[in-house]
Amino acid sequence: MTDHILTETADRLTTVTFNRPDKKNAITQDMYQAMADAVNAYATDEEARALMFTGNGDYFTSGNDLQDFATGPRGDGLPPVVQFLHAIKDCPKPLIAAVNGPAIGVGLTLTLHCDLVYAAGSATFAAPFVKLGLVPEAASSMLLPAIIGMAAANDVFMTGRSLTSEEALRMGLVSRVFEDGEFAGETGALAQLVANAAPNAMRHTKALVRTQNTEITECMTIEGEIFAAQLGSPEFGESVAAMMAKRPAVYK
Ligand code: COA
Repeated sequence: MTDHILTETADRLTTVTFNRPDKKNAITQDMYQAMADAVNAYATDEEARALMFTGNGDYFTSGNDLQDFATGPRGDGLPPVVQFLHAIKDCPKPLIAAVNGPAIGVGLTLTLHCDLVYAAGSATFAAPFVKLGLVPEAASSMLLPAIIGMAAANDVFMTGRSLTSEEALRMGLVSRVFEDGEFAGETGALAQLVANAAPNAMRHTKALVRTQNTEITECMTIEGEIFAAQLGSPEFGESVAAMMAKRPAVYK
């Protein structure tokens, strides 16, 4: 159990909150496990009709905990991050991302598996995998170009730059943007609207809109193999060492 993930269900709406604000909501393996369990429980809970991810504090999430990345998976079985990514990919019910602040790495890529993505004015989106000597994950190498186009996706992946919420809205990565002061109220009301809607019509609509699940799974497998190899590479070691020392990385 970790209190870095808060899960609450009320009025048919499950809210999963990243609750590690002192670390900008960086996600550890324990947090991924709690998130995977929450999504799997929601998928089979007839009472819950919508699930919303959001963050406590000024960040949505700064992505995978860098220390955890370096340590690698613990124990046997499917790593918690993989369990979580498969849980959101396979969830037949609506998933909502309420992006209250910067969404880095998996913070961005999880939104690609959400059906509605709401962003606060101060939210930003970045996928700095290459900067870390890594590669895209969660089928984002397929989904991001499909949503925003290949040139824009390469700008995000290859430079690691941050998109503003307004840019993300123009690119189709985000459903709607609300001013910071109105964000919690507006997204809460919209999530409740989804939770109150006809559940079977909602599920069918999701299945109709998301048609390429097999391709997504294949893409995740290929990405996962390359990602794991890069995690063990000198490029990753140098990237993290440079980031910790706040110096530019130098690659051979
Ligand atoms: N993993 C582990 N710890 C993280 C983290 C991450 N992804 N992101 C932030 N933190 C921690 C910092 O180490 C720091 O901890 P400390 O107070 O014990 O020193 C704390 O959160 C606050 O971060 P800090 O860097 O001081 O705040 P900032 O406002 O200057 O910068 C970020 C915030 C998110 C821009 C910066 O921390 C960062 O670049 N983090 C790495 C993001 C990343 O590359 N994620 C992986 C994507 S694949």
